[in-house]
Amino acid sequence: MAEVTLINHSGTQTTLDVPPGTSIMRAAIANGVRGIYAECGGDTMCATCHVYVEPEFSELFPPVNEDEDEMLEATACDRLPTSRLSCRLTIPEGCGAVVVRLPESQR
Ligand code: FES
Repeated sequence: MAEVTLINHSGTQTTLDVPPGTSIMRAAIANGVRGIYAECGGDTMCATCHVYVEPEFSELFPPVNEDEDEMLEATACDRLPTSRLSCRLTIPEGCGAVVVRLPESQR
């Protein structure tokens, strides 16, 4: 299990225990975390699962691919160097913890 902490725009933190192989988006939705809509269900087609990965955790995940890069240009809030789609962030084996911040808005 990885300890995934989501910090919303007002600073409220939610920490979830997430098994390897689960995306941060799915874990957030399953646990009723507000601020992630995931309208396309994880198909890289909506950008409403946008998060900012804290820099020290960025190397846990594969780099942004072409599809994700295109969708990150369509986020409601600014794209930053730390922007990712949380449906593309699958918790790897051996991951201890991840911290992501949620944008102010997803749409
Ligand atoms: S859930 Fe739609 S892009 Fe991630």
